Amino acid sequence: MKIGIIGSGNVGGALGKRWAALGHQVLFSTRRPDSEEMKTLVASAGPRARATTAAETVAASDILLLATPWPVTREMVESLGELNNKILIDATNPLLPNLAGLEFANTSSGAEQVAQWAKGARVVKAFNTIGDNIMEQTTFGEISPVLFYCGDDKEAKQTAHQLAAELGFDPQNAGPLTQARVLEPFALLWISLAVKQGFGRDIAFQLLKR
Ligand SMILES: NC(=O)c1ccc[n+]([C@@H]2O[C@H](COP(=O)([O-])OP(=O)(O)OC[C@H]3O[C@@H](n4cnc5c(N)ncnc54)[C@H](OP(=O)(O)O)[C@@H]3O)[C@@H](O)[C@H]2O)c1
Repeated sequence: MKIGIIGSGNVGGALGKRWAALGHQVLFSTRRPDSEEMKTLVASAGPRARATTAAETVAASDILLLATPWPVTREMVESLGELNNKILIDATNPLLPNLAGLEFANTSSGAEQVAQWAKGARVVKAFNTIGDNIMEQTTFGEISPVLFYCGDDKEAKQTAHQLAAELGFDPQNAGPLTQARVLEPFALLWISLAVKQGFGRDIAFQLLKR
């Protein structure tokens, strides 16, 4: 697949690096292609990855991973222009400063806002509920961490499912995009356990079935 990373930081860097290692073409969109940090990221991602502008990333990719800090997300997404039916995987969380909560709850979600801003894109919410360190290293012995996703487009969801499974997650369809109203607070649970309750960042959730 041709994957463009919009926001090549902790999350975008971890996912892009792993997808490139799995054989996907990965473009890292960045404002600072010549920085040491970006050169290190591209070098560690291998020959299928490159850093470039947002415009080239969008033009050359079929799938976009959105992983920007929430305060700059609207401006970034609107600057991408017409997205021509591309799949946009939204990993953002509309966090308030100091992790005090979410900008939206119950009646809307960041993902629904992103879907309004991303002209012509098929938006799926995924990769927002666990830390970037878990994306980088998904294994917990024999157990695969669950990765919930939601959206209104079947193909977009299948793509997110496949990309999550390739990384070693147990991907689970959580329903339509409005379910982001549940998945974004679920991210707050991971954050509060990891950061405030003393569990540390090496934690993930598992879905049990019978
Ligand atoms: N970190 C996690 O564990 C985690 C887990 C799940 C979800 N999330 C969510 O994923 C999103 C990204 O988190 P992150 O920790 O990866 O963020 P990050 O590393 O702080 O930032 C991501 C990238 O966004 C770009 N960026 C920053 N400010 C910008 C601006 N003013 N204009 C344009 N681009 C800007 C930067 O890329 P350049 O400087 O290269 O342009 C930066 O590397 C957030 O919404 C977060 O809530 C985070």
